Amino acid sequence: MMNSGWNWFVIIVTVANILACWWLIIWATKNRANESKEGDVTGHVWDGDLEEYNNPLPRWWLYLFYFTIVFGFVYLALYPGLGNFKGFLNWTEVSQYDDEAKAVHEAQAAMFAPLRDLSPEELVENDQALLTGGRLFAANCAVCHGSDARGAQGFPNLTDDDWLYAGDYNTLVMTITNGRTGVMPAWQASLKDDGVKEVTAFVRQMSGQQADSQLAAKGQTRFNTFCVACHGPQGKGNPALGAPNLKDDIWLYGGSDASIAHSIANGRMGKMPAQKDFLTEERIRLIAAYVSSLSK
Ligand code: HEC
Ligand code: HEC
Repeated sequence: MMNSGWNWFVIIVTVANILACWWLIIWATKNRANESKEGDVTGHVWDGDLEEYNNPLPRWWLYLFYFTIVFGFVYLALYPGLGNFKGFLNWTEVSQYDDEAKAVHEAQAAMFAPLRDLSPEELVENDQALLTGGRLFAANCAVCHGSDARGAQGFPNLTDDDWLYAGDYNTLVMTITNGRTGVMPAWQASLKDDGVKEVTAFVRQMSGQQADSQLAAKGQTRFNTFCVACHGPQGKGNPALGAPNLKDDIWLYGGSDASIAHSIANGRMGKMPAQKDFLTEERIRLIAAYVSSLSK
């Protein structure tokens, strides 16, 4: 909003400009006695023989000028443009956006209505729910989890039955709504190079991969000191913290010596962003149903 001084300044300058155009047209179309008469040459010559005649503008062309002026006034009366005056239509970008958004929401509400009252069990069996859930997944989740939901390094696969947090419908709704942050501390400072190597060997052995058994034995002692609090005494993980099961040879960040050592030495902090500000509860329900159908 402009203060009232600027408001009047804009209004006056705008209206004065338009009126000045009006005057200019009238002035330019008047016959003036002291100048050459209509139909005479004006004395201007170009390119040797191109002479300018003093002829009036065609009428229709002249009327176009008047029309633009009338159009300008009508426009300024209907739409915002004259200082703080809102225009008689009360149009704003925001009101136009709101109207369009309202129309879209109404159309969507009609589509979601039949699904709203279904239980989670019914949703998972409902083709329409899964189809819509799949589309919402493609639009909101596939960038990170992949269009086939199989994930990538650091982004969990959602189609296997191995979960950081748990794959039941209610947990999925929680995960999607509020997001998750997996916090794996860095151990380089307390374990040093040797310690990292030993624990890496133990984790490899635990997951059924090839590992140096002497190193692994030393690593086990350290694991019992530093790691069980989150990964559990058997290394099976803890869904309350999102600590992965280390025994199943399914890896979020990779199961090679180098990847495991990197996870241990530098820590990891996978972040699943909360969706509650982007997606309505109805949508999250459909996505959760879709995701839980993937691992069945
Ligand atoms: C910006 C990338 C990103 C987007 C977008 C994203 N996620 Fe995630 N998601 C992650 C990451 C990273 C994790 C792992 C979090 C961790 O390490 O604790 C995760 C974890 C999850 C989990 C937990 C998996 C488990 O094993 O327990 C689920 C379920 C999930 N996401 C579903 C979704 C759905 C559904 C959407 C779309 C609405 C979505 N994500 C959008 C990055 C993303
Ligand atoms: C404070 C709890 C906590 C402690 C203690 C902890 N971790 Fe973790 N660890 C996690 C979490 C949570 C993740 C998942 C990180 C993520 O989602 O980004 C993880 C991930 C890992 C991974 C990566 C797994 C994969 O699938 O790629 C390895 C390997 C690992 N931890 C080993 C260890 C070892 C070895 C120790 C002991 C030296 C240890 N962790 C101690 C919580 C912990």
